[in-house]
Amino acid sequence: MIFTTSKLTYKAYTYKTRSSPIKITTKTIDLVPDSQSPSSFVAPPGKILIKVNYVALNPFDTKLYSMAIWPISTNSGIGRDFSGEIISIGQNTSSGFKICDLVQGIYPLFYDSQGTLSEYLLVSPRDIDIGVIPKNMSLIDAASRVTVFGTTVSISEELGFKGKKVLILGGGTSVGRYLVQLTHQFQAKEVVVTCSGRTQTTIENLGADKIIDYTKHENLVTPILDSVKETGSFDYIIDCYGGNQLFPKIKTILTRNGSYYTLAGDYPGSSFKKVLWSMIKVNLRQVWSKMGLLGYKYKFVQFIRFEKDLMKKSLELLETGKFETFIDSVYPFDQLDQAIEKLESGKTSGKVVVEVAKE
Ligand SMILES: NC(=O)c1ccc[n+]([C@@H]2O[C@H](COP(=O)([O-])OP(=O)(O)OC[C@H]3O[C@@H](n4cnc5c(N)ncnc54)[C@H](OP(=O)(O)O)[C@@H]3O)[C@@H](O)[C@H]2O)c1
Repeated sequence: MIFTTSKLTYKAYTYKTRSSPIKITTKTIDLVPDSQSPSSFVAPPGKILIKVNYVALNPFDTKLYSMAIWPISTNSGIGRDFSGEIISIGQNTSSGFKICDLVQGIYPLFYDSQGTLSEYLLVSPRDIDIGVIPKNMSLIDAASRVTVFGTTVSISEELGFKGKKVLILGGGTSVGRYLVQLTHQFQAKEVVVTCSGRTQTTIENLGADKIIDYTKHENLVTPILDSVKETGSFDYIIDCYGGNQLFPKIKTILTRNGSYYTLAGDYPGSSFKKVLWSMIKVNLRQVWSKMGLLGYKYKFVQFIRFEKDLMKKSLELLETGKFETFIDSVYPFDQLDQAIEKLESGKTSGKVVVEVAKE
């Protein structure tokens, strides 16, 4: 894209703290004269300019907002996952990308003045994880997969599912749907999944061997112990929704030296109190686990960035076309409130996406 003025004015969502609203603000990027053609302007040296098309919301976005107290947050952007197009590359920028590349990415800086719910992103390549979208993938699909698929691939890389008995709590979540597919495709011995009746058929079709409908059990321990009686203890428990019901019986449910990974901690939800208590509990349990006091490995998964070659691996897996994507709804840029309301309803079937600009 050729810019004929040095100032690029655009809209982005920002908030000051959790007690102020998330609202659209007008921002400006200062471009610099192009050395080849001084009457046109490009991104500053060392930076790339991305035009954002789609942003998938994550519960993490609203958790960050609900924890945004002064002075941790004074003027923060919102949104992490995105897809879009590289429209300008500044001089001396070694990014490996070229103009017009369609990319997906994750913006990993918390409480930064920039978030991805923004018409443009001006970034240093080292501050951001981006990858070129495979040709068979739309920009909307790409945005909806970034964090959730990346998280499940990182767990799969660490644990390895072949021949293991796996319990997935909250298989109906966006992240859980990919985990069911990965455990099945990577030949887990048995995949037991909790989800509601409305999602049961979908999860079975993705490869789950057994479903436990969480709406029919006040406490999940009983049906899970039934599975242990039938086919033995679990090698892995991966909690994609949040909870702590299994801990009183964990030594029967998990094999010795098995692994309990949680993505959401002890208390589901994004309120300040729930997130804080969850953080306290998971950190204590992680310390006990490291000290060898639990008899199993406990980990709170924190997928912040694509480490090493994880972006490449996750894009290669997606390129196989073997993974089904679930998009619950797409909201226009000016309807973020409604999109957040839907995200927090607990009744989504896949990702809630915001369209910043049409593909
Ligand atoms: N730590 C990390 O790195 C990381 C990365 C990604 C996500 N996460 C966390 O993982 C969690 C899920 O994220 P997401 O985006 O995948 O969620 P999501 O798509 O918004 O989850 C919505 C789903 O939650 C399910 N659900 C509602 N109540 C449930 C219950 N009591 N038990 C089990 N499932 C229930 C529903 O499935 P049914 O249709 O079955 O009712 C619903 O479809 C969030 O807390 C998120 O912050 C963490």
